[in-house]
Amino acid sequence: LPPRVTVVGSVNLDLVARVDRLPAPGETLTAHGVTRVPGGKGANQALAAARLGGRVRLVAAVGDDPLAGEALTLLRAGGVDLAGVRISDDAPTGTAMIQVDDDGETTIVIDAGANATLAVTPDELDADVVLTVLEVPDETVATAMAASAFTVLNAAPARPVAGDVLAGLDLLCVNAAEYGELAAHADLDDVVAVAITHGAAGAELRRRGRVVAQVEPPPVDAVDGTAAGDAFTAALALGLATGLDDEAALRRACRAGALAATRAGAQPSLPTRDEVDVP
Ligand code: RIB
Ligand code: NA
Repeated sequence: LPPRVTVVGSVNLDLVARVDRLPAPGETLTAHGVTRVPGGKGANQALAAARLGGRVRLVAAVGDDPLAGEALTLLRAGGVDLAGVRISDDAPTGTAMIQVDDDGETTIVIDAGANATLAVTPDELDADVVLTVLEVPDETVATAMAASAFTVLNAAPARPVAGDVLAGLDLLCVNAAEYGELAAHADLDDVVAVAITHGAAGAELRRRGRVVAQVEPPPVDAVDGTAAGDAFTAALALGLATGLDDEAALRRACRAGALAATRAGAQPSLPTRDEVDVP
């Protein structure tokens, strides 16, 4: 049976401007159009897991506004169970203002909105894999990561995480900058498994501080790096939770991330199982 995945995480509507290059402070640039795209790290990882074959529930919070419907369209179409999505009375749906340059590099500014109101109870965490991100409150992260499932934290965007949360994780996924931020406050060599992504240079997996796998992703033409890390995290979580060996799971996760970087937008860019598993 496909693994049951519960994602406790954020939903955002992404407002994406394509620019030739990212603006400098104080500078005004003209975009080549703006698009509205379903995003949010939690929602992206939920959809990524569903497209990779997981049975996925999303626990999240949106506003009582038209942005919510727009932000949830692809999750709905992708078969993600949205019964756990609460509608806040007063907070708006989260938004992310994203700029993407010609090399697919991005800058992102988030307004958390309803994501900041999300709480979860242990009875909502009955699953094989429980995954969360740092776009929801600390207490929510702590509750989610105390689940008796294979627990995965994508520590993005970077902020310090309590030592007891880190100690209980089955998998921590970070990019190099996030790794640095966390390592300044905690000894990550104590974490069971840590995956560190290095963008186009690939990724490594460490178990209790020892490098157990290192992979270079397939070379791709990056169009938009948005959600590449989300695709990577979902693929690695599913792979390790279902018994793939470290090397194979890491290779598959890198392929998922690389594919997401070849396409524009967050959720529209997430690959399917067939795309990721081509030999
Ligand atoms: O990881 C990419 C996501 O980060 C975007 O979809 C945006 O909403 C921000 O949360
Ligand atoms: Na993308």
